[in-house]
Amino acid sequence: MTSGLQIKDEDCGFNKNLFCVPKHYEDDLERVFIPHGLILDRTERLARDIMQDMGNHPIFALCVLKGGYKFFADLMDHIKALNRNTDQSVPITVDFVRTKSYCNDVPNGMVSIIGEELSAFKGKNILVVEDIIDTGKTIQALLSKIKEYEPQMVKVVSLLVKRTIRSSGYKPDYTGFEIPDKFVVGYALDYNEYFRDLNHICILNEKAKEKYKL
Ligand code: IMP
Repeated sequence: MTSGLQIKDEDCGFNKNLFCVPKHYEDDLERVFIPHGLILDRTERLARDIMQDMGNHPIFALCVLKGGYKFFADLMDHIKALNRNTDQSVPITVDFVRTKSYCNDVPNGMVSIIGEELSAFKGKNILVVEDIIDTGKTIQALLSKIKEYEPQMVKVVSLLVKRTIRSSGYKPDYTGFEIPDKFVVGYALDYNEYFRDLNHICILNEKAKEKYKL
């Protein structure tokens, strides 16, 4: 277990005008926090680490929707490339589960899990692919649900983990980036369903939080 690439509290990212962002979001973004290229480079290394640990048995990869879909797709691409290009190769099956726990930029206190037939997990080596861990409540609720179905092994990879006093102390097996306690969007992470269609992970400005508030 490593804490991933650490982004310090004082790191505020990059001037958005030095990157390409969709015109419809230009006025909503404060800064580009993690550029898309860096996300992909870090994901490539996570794929290698995961395959080194789990690559002796078939992997049942579980994407946590909606925020995890971009990370999941890119991680799977890197794992498939390793399967094609190295001697170690294992079949990957995929499934999807949906969780919802946020309204605006605050947790709504409830975690709902909407998913497929979870009984398929029995005896499998599961890799749960999450977008972000904040308090840790969502992933812990999902893990306890999955464990009811007696998988052989469960590992969790999260692209982002927030450093926050609200944390339950939960840490995933693999972390892309450890980030300060800021609300981030982009690369499928949303604010009330907006900003999933943004490649870079960005910080919103206060005006945008008001504009898209429910
Ligand atoms: P937790 O249960 O507090 O760990 O929250 C995890 C879930 O909340 C994630 O799967 C996201 O859906 C959402 N979330 C938490 N922080 C952020 C954020 O900064 N941006 C977008 N979604 C977030």
